[in-house]
This record gives sequence, C-alpha cells and structure tokens, in this order.
Amino acid sequence: MTTRPYIVGNWKMHGTRAMLAEARAIDRAAERLLKVEVAIAPPFTLIHATRKEATLIAIGAQDCHPADGGAHTGDISAAMVKDAGAGFTIVGHSERRANHGESNELVKRKAHAAIDAGMSVIVCVGETEAERDSGKAASVVTRQLNGSLPDGDEVADKVTVAYEPVWAIGTGRTPTPDDIADMHRHIRKVLEKAYGDAGSEVRILYGGSVKPENAAELLSADEVGGALVGGASLSAESFLGIIMAAAEDERE
Ligand code: PGA
Repeated sequence: MTTRPYIVGNWKMHGTRAMLAEARAIDRAAERLLKVEVAIAPPFTLIHATRKEATLIAIGAQDCHPADGGAHTGDISAAMVKDAGAGFTIVGHSERRANHGESNELVKRKAHAAIDAGMSVIVCVGETEAERDSGKAASVVTRQLNGSLPDGDEVADKVTVAYEPVWAIGTGRTPTPDDIADMHRHIRKVLEKAYGDAGSEVRILYGGSVKPENAAELLSADEVGGALVGGASLSAESFLGIIMAAAEDERE
C-alpha cells in the first residue's frame, strides 16, 4: 500500500460530552503521528462537538438515512451529518445489518446518499461464524460487496471497505493474519472487477477486536490498509497504542 494507514475509531453507542477529552487527546497526539490518517466516528449527538474539539483528525458518522429528507422520525440524512461536521459515513456495519435488518440494497443507497452529500464512505462487510465454518466466507463477502458498493468507477476514490468478520467483533477473537490476508486479497479482486483500475487504490481496513497488543501483527497482513476499531477506540490511551503500531508499519 502506498497510502498512509487509515485508523478509524467507531464509538458505536458510547459517549456523552465527557468523552470529548478523549477526542482532544487523540487529536493532539495525531499531530505527532502524521504517517497515519486518524478518524473517529462518534454517535450523531457528538459529531459537531467532536469536530470543534479535534482539528486534525477526520470525523465521521456511523450511519445515515438514504433519503435527502422527509417524514422519517428519528432518522438523520447524509446532508445533516455533513452539516454537523462529518467528512465520511460508515455504512452497512454488521450491527446495523443485524439489529435493523439492513439489506445490501439499502446499504448501497446509503453509500450513494453520503457520496452525493459530499462525504466518503466506509462500507462494512463480513461473514458470521457459521458462514466461515461452512466455507462460505468468501462468497458471502463477495455478495455483500457486489450488493452494497456504490456504483460507478468515478466514486471509487470515495470508498473504503472494512472487512469485519461478525464473530471477531467485540469478542477478543481474531482471524489469523493469513486468513485476513486471504480475505483482503479476495476483496481486492472484487473491487477491481467493480471499479477497474480504480479498484486497486481502494483502502481495505480490517476490523474486529483490534487492540494495541495485536495491531502490529494484524496491520502487517497483506492488503490491510488500516483498521476499524470499536472498543479499543474509546480511550485515547488504547486507541493511540493502535495508531502508534500503524505508524511503525515498515511498509510506510
Ligand atoms: P471491536 O469492534 O473493535 O470492538 O471488535 C469493531 C467494529 O465493530 O467496528
């Protein structure tokens, strides 16, 4: 990979204004770690405040609605999160696919809405444990990518893919670096089919139980361009441990 590693913290449904101190500490430290591109996706309610606290790192949303606006009580549009200060949106996280029944088709519409609003997107894919055990991991991920990726070569530079095996999220279990490399190489092929040459530039992040202790090993796997980090992004100390491991990656 020639681009800087991209380390993204997904705060999920964690954080009130008390968490802004963590964002500030991450931002201050990121100033000294310019070899790494750092981002945080806080809950909607903190996007604006986090953007004001943190000037260097990217701030994003964890989701958006596919429509521009309308009678959708409780939903938030892409233009709204952009207006609040988000530069990117995560779409298709497995918790949204599972908890809200999000289909590939809906994830694709959300990705287009985010790009139309002027943001980039992180499209999440990943198999369940049963799918991996039955040898279907690659075919499941292919189907998710083909159904969820936004269409058109011209949008490829707005897309990052996050491979997050469902069974590795929040469990402390991870695939081996070889398994991650196999899946990332597979994802690369699907991206090149979808976007042609532009598909070789799309960053592919690994996510699922990334911690300061395993980050160096996981990030060194072939075709891993960074990490999407949940639990370990909630404190500046552990998130910075991961960012430092990325900064030391010899390929950079
Ligand atoms: P985790 O979550 O790091 O807590 O496993 C990753 C994610 O769901 O993005």
